[in-house]
Amino acid sequence: MTMDNIAISRTTKSRLAEVDLSNLKFGRHFSDHMFLADYVDGEWRDFRIEPFGYIPMHPSLMALHYGQSIFEGMKASKNVEGQALFFRPEMHAKRLNRSAERMCMPTFPEEMFLEALHTLIGMDSDWIPPHEGSALYIRPLMYAADEFLGVKPSDNYRLLIFSGPVGPYYSKRIQLWAEPYYIRAAPGGVGAAKTAGNYAAAMLPSKLAKENGYDQVLWLDAIHHKYVQEVGTMNIFFVIGDSIITPPVTEDTILHGITRDSVLHILREETDYKVEERPLSIDEIVEAYRSGELKECFGSGTAAVIGDVERITYGEIDMRLPSRGEESVGVFCKNYLNRLRAGLIEDKFNWIVPVEMPELNPAG
Ligand SMILES: Cc1ncc(COP(=O)(O)O)c(C=O)c1O
Repeated sequence: MTMDNIAISRTTKSRLAEVDLSNLKFGRHFSDHMFLADYVDGEWRDFRIEPFGYIPMHPSLMALHYGQSIFEGMKASKNVEGQALFFRPEMHAKRLNRSAERMCMPTFPEEMFLEALHTLIGMDSDWIPPHEGSALYIRPLMYAADEFLGVKPSDNYRLLIFSGPVGPYYSKRIQLWAEPYYIRAAPGGVGAAKTAGNYAAAMLPSKLAKENGYDQVLWLDAIHHKYVQEVGTMNIFFVIGDSIITPPVTEDTILHGITRDSVLHILREETDYKVEERPLSIDEIVEAYRSGELKECFGSGTAAVIGDVERITYGEIDMRLPSRGEESVGVFCKNYLNRLRAGLIEDKFNWIVPVEMPELNPAG
């Protein structure tokens, strides 16, 4: 790995001392540097790292008008020895490119993405909070950069990568509203792409759910309004009897969560549960609740890692799930992932990638 391709301009004044790493609000703090690259004349060029700051933009910037904008959310953390590491970074590179293809945007070479990550996060590794449950959240973002009004794919694009330290996402158990009317994604649509509009479309139903005391919407499918899909920024798992069930990502309606994939591996490898990826209807969940077979529900996602669900409301039906404490499958997965990141258990799946520290370049 070399930095030859990346022009580096360091900040002259780190802002790190202004941030209390033991008391962090999600998404409010940003570390010192950002990576940028531009797609011009059919190729990515001008790879650079600059002090984090504002990006000037033209009022007709196409991303703002027509929504060609995709992003990723990933984390770097420190193990108990203080070594900085990524979790499955190549999966994020691949998903960014899948989102790009669906949104008619250029892919970004995976090798270059990884090099940019190592260089950027290596430079800002002091921003990785050492506390358990905290991490450096990394946000790669690609958007249409043409200055033009008219509906067509942009010719120019920009890739940005920036990061910020975050604390634990949910401090409490989660209340879900199973949404009978509004939908997040339909077959043939863009639900499997991590694109800005998916989140915009979810704002109103999420706001209505929050006004009624819920934390998140549990999305149902667009055709039958019956099959569970996912939650806000998490995939969803149900423990029913001796089975753990999560909806399949075979249709293009559900984000292919990297935590979801990790949880599936952990469950299959480390527990005796029957693990199923299959369509699961809200009626089956209600029936399992009534018969006492619904033991647990939890969400999985980079930000929250695992979110334990306390309540699911579907119309008049209010399902309350008592905490399973140490018996919880979600807690088991969360502890497994946290201990893996801390370096306390063997990385048998090869998910941990140490951050390569950049050579110091005094001239930079
Ligand atoms: C809509 C949606 N579903 C699921 C997830 C979970 O995916 P991951 O585990 O890769 O963070 C996210 C977060 O990225 C998301 O935004």
